[in-house]
Amino acid sequence: MADLDPARIPHHVAIIMDGNGRWAKQRGLPRIEGHRRGVETVRRTIETARELGIRYLTLYAFSVENWRRPEEEVGGLMNLLEYFLKRETSTLIKNKVRLLTIGRTADLPAGVRRRLEQTIEATAGFTEHTLVLALNYGSRTEVLDAVQAYSAAVAAGEVDPAKLTWEDFARHLYTRDLPDPDLIIRTSGETRVSNFLLLQAAYAEFVFLSLYWPDFSKDAFHQAIADYQGRQRRFGRTGDQLGQASPQPPPLPAGSAS
Ligand code: IPE
Ligand code: IPE
Ligand code: MG
Repeated sequence: MADLDPARIPHHVAIIMDGNGRWAKQRGLPRIEGHRRGVETVRRTIETARELGIRYLTLYAFSVENWRRPEEEVGGLMNLLEYFLKRETSTLIKNKVRLLTIGRTADLPAGVRRRLEQTIEATAGFTEHTLVLALNYGSRTEVLDAVQAYSAAVAAGEVDPAKLTWEDFARHLYTRDLPDPDLIIRTSGETRVSNFLLLQAAYAEFVFLSLYWPDFSKDAFHQAIADYQGRQRRFGRTGDQLGQASPQPPPLPAGSAS
């Protein structure tokens, strides 16, 4: 297991859990089997995050674009979500993990909504660890919802648009109660963000892993954190200003004098 600096554990890790379908296909199994195995990985990942002292863990479970999948797969995913909530709520309570969601959850099936409401309510008092499920989430719909909410506040005379700051606007995002992610991990070998936390990721570090989500082990999670700890986050400043060793300069273009 990778050696980690306990003082530099990211506060907020967000994960694009990708590759369930390909994991199943590789084994000649239906895609839903990959999702089933993916749920086991979710349980393991929540546990590892807690062990590591990660305060916020956000999991991208269903995007606004995922409704475009075959009806059977969408239905299977919703059933699995309901099953997960039913089975995991007692563990979340035992481990004092608060559940939150981001996304247009009002459009999810009634059974899922009910379970979500129950678990959110049952865990609302916990402050140490927060699990955020991104459900029917998309950054662009999040921006639209925020603009609508902000416009309503302007129309009601509650805020002055001439004085708008980022902090004011961010209060209307689904993530209003969350810090920005420090680290975003995507499994499956794809190196894209797929409409996930586009604004909140302004200064996130990204780790892309080639393994499929069902194979995302505790060891792989530790390795991703180790990778994160090797980065220097500069937020626009120079490396020297930060008083740490300067990052390696990029290699010179081929053919140039060194
Ligand atoms: C991630 O796995 C799960 C969801 C998006 C719900 P995929 O289902 O996207 O798996 P691949 O990418 O097709 O392999
Ligand atoms: C991103 O995965 C969404 C989730 C993990 C829920 P997708 O598999 O839907 O992303 P694309 O379509 O390959 O970009
Ligand atoms: Mg995918």
